[in-house]
Amino acid sequence: MADQEKLRNEFKVRFGAEPRLFSAPGRVNLIGEHTDYNAGFVMPAAIQFHTTIAAAPRTDRLLRMRSVNLAETREVALSGALAVQHRSGQSAHWVDYVAGVAWALQQEGIAIGGADLLIHGDVPLGAGLSSSAALEVASALALTRVADLSIGGLQLAQLCQRAENQYVGMRCGIMDQFASVHGRAGHAILLDCRSLEHRYLSLQAAQLLICNTMVHHRLAGSEYNRRREQCELGVQALGRKIPGLTALRDVSSAQLRAFKDALDPLIFRRCRHVISENERVVAAAGALEGADLAGFGALMRESHRSLRDDYEVSCDELDLMVRLADSIDGVYGARMTGGGFGGCTVNLVRSDRVQQFRSQVAADYARATGRAAQIYVCEAADGAH
Ligand code: GLA
Repeated sequence: MADQEKLRNEFKVRFGAEPRLFSAPGRVNLIGEHTDYNAGFVMPAAIQFHTTIAAAPRTDRLLRMRSVNLAETREVALSGALAVQHRSGQSAHWVDYVAGVAWALQQEGIAIGGADLLIHGDVPLGAGLSSSAALEVASALALTRVADLSIGGLQLAQLCQRAENQYVGMRCGIMDQFASVHGRAGHAILLDCRSLEHRYLSLQAAQLLICNTMVHHRLAGSEYNRRREQCELGVQALGRKIPGLTALRDVSSAQLRAFKDALDPLIFRRCRHVISENERVVAAAGALEGADLAGFGALMRESHRSLRDDYEVSCDELDLMVRLADSIDGVYGARMTGGGFGGCTVNLVRSDRVQQFRSQVAADYARATGRAAQIYVCEAADGAH
């Protein structure tokens, strides 16, 4: 609240108008990694870290944007200048996410106008907690609402995904933007990324901690897009055996085994991750609903192994963080969360072990890497508002 007042005051001083405030959270994914763009299942929760934008309309067609965190001001003209960018996704500037959202809204025929935007975020950057989705969703809300337009939550999430896919050049799925819009305090979201049907799962029984390795490998953007292409190759090859196949979501583990010889060995392993991960999400939802934390934790561990060995999106620091967590009594399970190549792990921990977990993991990680990890107790939060 104090932060919001500060932002409001800074806006008034800088732009000379009374702003409205819009806020969107980052997310942590409990399980279901690299399944969203395969039309599969995911289980994210919105978290207590947000991007907040103070905004007011302008009378011209200019977006004037100021990042408080980076102390940078940029201007983009809404008319004409928003040409489609083709980027690799890994070197995007913060302005691209806001401009990308403006571009996607206009593509959709949503007539936004110019605006002044003062942006502040506390979602850790490059940590796999979706700081970019938080920025996109907060921007989309701000740009539409100050133009007196209101669009539905699902359309908002889809437009933000489109901005990231087509403007920023990162071919992400719908999970992050969906979670940022639809989060609910105290709950995870079980989302079917094909039908977009979802239900909320109570996290009351579970104590989740997020460990930030404080590393982010530069490969992340290009390798992400490459994984997506490898899944598409898998669908093509399996489609010769399973007529009409459009997504790995529709392949069972038994079918994959039966058609193993039709696949290049690397593509086989990529497919095995996605197909088994989908099965794990469904099982994990049952475990959570039955308060079977040991069962849920075992699935988290399997998920990490599969991401490390079959999908190859983990890294030494993430593997180490998971091993350190697993060695502590009272930890049900741990795994990397998000796209990979650095960032965070998510850990399911018995409530009476939280303090011990924090001090032991931090000390062991510092000893092994020389880095100070950040460890957050995850508070599942409401979506954008
Ligand atoms: C990133 C993407 C998501 C999802 C995850 C991996 O966070 O933005 O769409 O694919 O990676 O599960």
